[in-house]
Amino acid sequence: MSLVSGIHHVTVCASGAQEDVDFLTQVFGQRLIKQTILFDGRYAHYHLYYSNANAEPGSVYTTFPYKRVPGRPGSGQIQSTAYTVKKGATKFWDEHLTHHKVKHGGIQERFGQKFIRFSHPSGLQLEVIEDSADDRKPWTVGEISADVATHGFHGPVASVREIPETERFFVEALGFKKTGVDGAYHRLELNGGGANKTVVLLHEPDRPSGSWGFGAGCGHHVALDAGTDKGLAEQKGIYEELGYTDCSEIKDREYFHSIYCRCPGGILVECAATAAGGFSRDEPSDALGHKLLLPPWFEERRAEIMTMLEPITIPENNFPVHLEAVAVKTATPGGTPAAAEPVSTGASRRQAVFIGGDGGQKKQ
Ligand SMILES: [Fe+2]
Repeated sequence: MSLVSGIHHVTVCASGAQEDVDFLTQVFGQRLIKQTILFDGRYAHYHLYYSNANAEPGSVYTTFPYKRVPGRPGSGQIQSTAYTVKKGATKFWDEHLTHHKVKHGGIQERFGQKFIRFSHPSGLQLEVIEDSADDRKPWTVGEISADVATHGFHGPVASVREIPETERFFVEALGFKKTGVDGAYHRLELNGGGANKTVVLLHEPDRPSGSWGFGAGCGHHVALDAGTDKGLAEQKGIYEELGYTDCSEIKDREYFHSIYCRCPGGILVECAATAAGGFSRDEPSDALGHKLLLPPWFEERRAEIMTMLEPITIPENNFPVHLEAVAVKTATPGGTPAAAEPVSTGASRRQAVFIGGDGGQKKQ
């Protein structure tokens, strides 16, 4: 049994913020569940979170709209993020993406599963992959009904120049098993595998390294679910025992606590433990994502921060139409934020000084 149970979230850098909101909520049918900011560094950037109907870890795709800095796609990066859809649904997505003039590769297959890879406007790559065993509750919008909507992650596809050391990291340090090779794809699975328990390595030996820092159009990291702060501390100990001594300290990300470790081959791997209250800790579970929220340590600088962010409009259909599903699953039904729990294992954060902006426009 692995210490980590599956994927917690995937984080990428988009380009424009409104473009990101519009594409992910309207064309891809995700639920925007959180508007906040990147907690590190000197500049204010949005941190936007998207998920399935129940805001479940394992469906949470987070973006830093970073249009000021172009990224360089390449190896050593999360290249694409795959979401499960029901068997047969790729036919809908083929037509839907074509209708919206989204660049896509048509229906392909790996490990016997049909999938379509397509491009976010920033150049980020996304996939829908058929897996009827996934019954997590999808979010729906007008054009995307429950029978074809996404349920959550199947898993990321990471490009690497060499397989062995990256595979060894996932197997020895994180408890994955190698379960197959299909052409250039190498599949690693956790705890029986399948949806949300799969990482695919794509062997691209001649592909130059992509950028490791923040930059538009590139994946940044995958986060695995370590359950608790105790799990994070244990995972940090496992990394160090095996010689991966560059694991970070535990960081407070408000909605979860995190450690980060760059694995051989270049992929940044986070382990995360959801904080008390999760995404409902600071706003009602039926109103997630409707306004910009800042952690307590940034709140007094809200006006300054707002001037540095691109104004965005949240589409009307992001308002909840799945209240029944939300009420069943969230930790704080009725919308009362749970009490914040301090990180107990030495959390730290950098002091941020905002001296510039990403959007280049004043909030009206
Ligand atoms: Fe993360």
